[in-house]
Amino acid sequence: MRQRCFTCGTHYPLDQVLYTCAQCGCVLEIELDVSECVAESLSGAGVWRYARFLPVDAGRRVSLSEGDTGLHACERLGSEFGIPHLFVKNEGENPTGSFKDRGMTVGVTRAVQLGAKAVACASTGNTAASLSAYAARAGLRAIVLVPSGQVAVGKIAQSVIHGGEIVQIEGNFDDAMRVVQQLSLDTGDVYLLNSINPFRLEGQKTLAYEICESLGTSPDVVVLPMGNAGNISAIWKGFQEFKAAGMIDCLPRMIGVQAENAAPLVAALAETDPDVCHLSDPETVATAIRIGAPVNWRKAIAAVRESGGCAGTVSDAEILAAQRDLARKEGRFVEPASAAPIAWLRKNGLSDAETVVCVATGHGLKDPDAVLREAPRFTTAHPTLASLKEALNIQ
Ligand SMILES: Cc1ncc(COP(=O)(O)O)c(C=O)c1O
Ligand SMILES: [Zn+2]
Repeated sequence: MRQRCFTCGTHYPLDQVLYTCAQCGCVLEIELDVSECVAESLSGAGVWRYARFLPVDAGRRVSLSEGDTGLHACERLGSEFGIPHLFVKNEGENPTGSFKDRGMTVGVTRAVQLGAKAVACASTGNTAASLSAYAARAGLRAIVLVPSGQVAVGKIAQSVIHGGEIVQIEGNFDDAMRVVQQLSLDTGDVYLLNSINPFRLEGQKTLAYEICESLGTSPDVVVLPMGNAGNISAIWKGFQEFKAAGMIDCLPRMIGVQAENAAPLVAALAETDPDVCHLSDPETVATAIRIGAPVNWRKAIAAVRESGGCAGTVSDAEILAAQRDLARKEGRFVEPASAAPIAWLRKNGLSDAETVVCVATGHGLKDPDAVLREAPRFTTAHPTLASLKEALNIQ
């Protein structure tokens, strides 16, 4: 295995610490020879079941038992949308409640193997929560930069309890991302674990492997929210590798969803040959994907185009309605960003797909404010049967 520039193809050894290509400045990826990965049958559960597809020493792993999340059939919503087999891959079942744990177990394992003393990230919340937990597990210092006042309260609470050092940046996520990159380049001791880090994405690709193993084949379509666009890139890489390894014989279309006022990737995809992907003031209730300058934009565009997929937007109202739909019709409580794929399906339909997987990226409890801001109807009663029946409108 080695590192490879996604744009110009320059190679770097696996043990070299760099985040972007020294030649052209673009993002890197891990190149692996899948023919070396298929020798024996897979064993174990979760992310490390796929250890031979991962670029770190599994014997020294930092793990909280991540991955192996449920792939749940959503029959009621499926029939509403006219999709015969609609599934939700519920990443809220991970140790810190989001898909980030898949990447962090691999990223923090690498940090330990490099001898790093501190790990850092910029975050809309979930990366911070995950990084703080895995750093705690490994005994490393965790530095997290968050956009001031724009992170869901549950995610901040997670970082606090795990001992993350939280710096609130007076700016948005993109400002935090820029300055944390500067910090990690300036001081060699701080290992950067945003999704610009290709080792982290290697962990996230296992989501694709799990879907294939659960279904026994590839789905027709995968729909997921895009923010920094690491996840869509990682999952597409996973599907391609599983096909190259002979585990599946076709590939899914990848559909990326963004919030209406935070959709730089949808805009870039509308151009034939975009050379920049940027939006100044992204805004959405789905704070996890409130990102204007996605670092993995080139990879995401490739994932959408190579897979024959597409990208689209949904409004905040559509996102919140989809979040309620999943909770009330399927019993799954996901955070707003994670409901964006369902919102997209409700809005656009998908008549030519039999099997569709929506990636529910994070747990609903992370962002209770998003639910409670819409004045919930609580009824009050005296502690008597008569009063209770009156409150419930029962005769
Ligand atoms: C819940 C949730 N969904 C989606 C995303 C977007 O993932 P990516 O930045 O890899 O596109 C994030 C990123 O923070 C997230 O926390
Ligand atoms: Zn390059």
